[in-house]
Amino acid sequence: MKRASEQTVYFTGFMASGKSRIGRAVADRLQRPFVDTDALIAERAGKTISEIFTNDGEAVFRKMERDVLAEIAANETPRIVALGGGALTQAPILEFIHRSGILVRLWATPEVLSERIGRKATRPLMAGLAPEERLKKVKEMLEEREHYYRHADFSVESSNDFSEDHVIERVVALLKFWDARAINVETNSGDRYPIFIGKNLVSNMSSLLEGLRLNPSHSFLICTDTTIAKAQAPLLNTLKMQAGQCPIFKFRAGETNKNLNSLNQLYTYMLRRHFTRKSCLLQFSGGVVGDMAGFGAATYQRGIPFIQIPTTLLSMVDSSVGGKVAVNHPEGKNMIGAFYQPHAVLCDLETLSTLPFQEYLAGLAEVVKYGIIYDEPFFCFMEKNVEKIKNRDLETVSGLIHRSCEIKAEVVGIDEKETGLRAILNYGHTFGHAIEKLHNYEFSHGMGVSLGMRVAGRLSTLTHRWTETEEIRQNALLDALGFPKTCAVDAEAAWEAMGIDKKVEKDKRVYILPTKIGKVEKATAVNESLVREAWASIQPGDHL
Ligand SMILES: NC(=O)c1ccc[n+]([C@@H]2O[C@H](COP(=O)([O-])OP(=O)(O)OC[C@H]3O[C@@H](n4cnc5c(N)ncnc54)[C@H](O)[C@@H]3O)[C@@H](O)[C@H]2O)c1
Repeated sequence: MKRASEQTVYFTGFMASGKSRIGRAVADRLQRPFVDTDALIAERAGKTISEIFTNDGEAVFRKMERDVLAEIAANETPRIVALGGGALTQAPILEFIHRSGILVRLWATPEVLSERIGRKATRPLMAGLAPEERLKKVKEMLEEREHYYRHADFSVESSNDFSEDHVIERVVALLKFWDARAINVETNSGDRYPIFIGKNLVSNMSSLLEGLRLNPSHSFLICTDTTIAKAQAPLLNTLKMQAGQCPIFKFRAGETNKNLNSLNQLYTYMLRRHFTRKSCLLQFSGGVVGDMAGFGAATYQRGIPFIQIPTTLLSMVDSSVGGKVAVNHPEGKNMIGAFYQPHAVLCDLETLSTLPFQEYLAGLAEVVKYGIIYDEPFFCFMEKNVEKIKNRDLETVSGLIHRSCEIKAEVVGIDEKETGLRAILNYGHTFGHAIEKLHNYEFSHGMGVSLGMRVAGRLSTLTHRWTETEEIRQNALLDALGFPKTCAVDAEAAWEAMGIDKKVEKDKRVYILPTKIGKVEKATAVNESLVREAWASIQPGDHL
């Protein structure tokens, strides 16, 4: 994805929200060409917009608007564009915009808008209305169009209380923040949210919180765990300041606390402090709290927004992206949960500085997984950069996070609710979860997955899906990165433990097995004795 500074910026908003005025000023400031689509249409038609509406009708105008936007979106030069007030009601226009740039919404109260509209008689849809009728119409139209404006990447208030310079500063600051946007996740149910990857993101977070307009009353709550709160105290404090000195809720750290009891403590805390549906959770955490508080956000008063600020590599490359949120049940891992998407994911590389190596390694297991299931060149990249990866070279790590999130976003974009393709992300997990369960969750998720990939890789060889050479190549990368080669697991107990895994479809055991590095398939009719044989491959003293 191009950086914000290389993309066209589109201003949307209701009529009189300041799109042309602010747009032109931002264009001057950023030294970019400015286009006002209404002015361009009028120039091409040789008549005013009012005349086009009166003489030719709205449909003709909308067609001209579509053509102009298609042209702008196809142009390589990044521009600043002021859209007409109703442009977003046209689905193709939204698509042009999302493909080619950033959509910024300017907003003001209906009263301010109506008063501004009344000053000029140039708005065809408001012509001849008395002030009260005009205000009523503005409110009605705003309500109708709110749905479209929600597609904006971010919003900036342009009320009369703010000077033009202030509004321009806000827009420029947010565009700068958007430079760290690496990916947009788009789900097939229409959700869309940005993933930011970079340094110093938390310390500039207030502009993001303002721009996302999640919470006009500023009732944020940070969720973290006791270990992170100590290890990352300065950054946590910065986050608290950025979120208006909001309170912090600390879960007890660790997978064993990822349950309904802990979650209930969060609900009680929020209810007693009168958090409403307008609140927003900020998960400054690894995957355990991210999943748990994410499920809290999905269920608190039927759902409130949340933002993931992952602090482990695993949560950056995996658990924060894709909207799976859950807690464990004594009968199985992640058994109580939902699909609920965050409003944004913010991977601040600063957080990784205090992450213990074993936890870092746990995240790398998922990164290796992406190479095996989806992207052979990415796997090669890891093979060639083992030392940089182990030394946490920032640029290399940033690249790993970027590509991993890209792959996850692509898969989730096609299959949000795991009815098909998304299952490939479970490579190594069916076995890994059994290992975690048998070791009473003392084995980290990532370590379980790394061992699970070894078992799955062996099973692929045994079922002739890939060659032993490829299995050795997979295991060699895992070895080089420092993953454990063995783990004592009783094959019988493992077989049983796999039965409760939620990936089991209607009593059939489903395996995600590689057919080569970069490609996997779903397998169901796999001989039980081969599965037991594959399990044996990670027993101490018997491995490739
Ligand atoms: N939702 C999904 O799609 C998905 C995908 C993969 C994994 N998961 C879940 O993620 C969880 C594992 O996540 P995790 O590996 O991040 O575990 P975690 O959240 O428990 O973090 C690991 C440990 O590191 C500590 N820690 C976190 N960040 C730190 C930092 N910056 N500095 C120092 N210490 C830090 C934590 O306190 C914890 O003790 C599992 O519960 C798994 O089920 C979910």
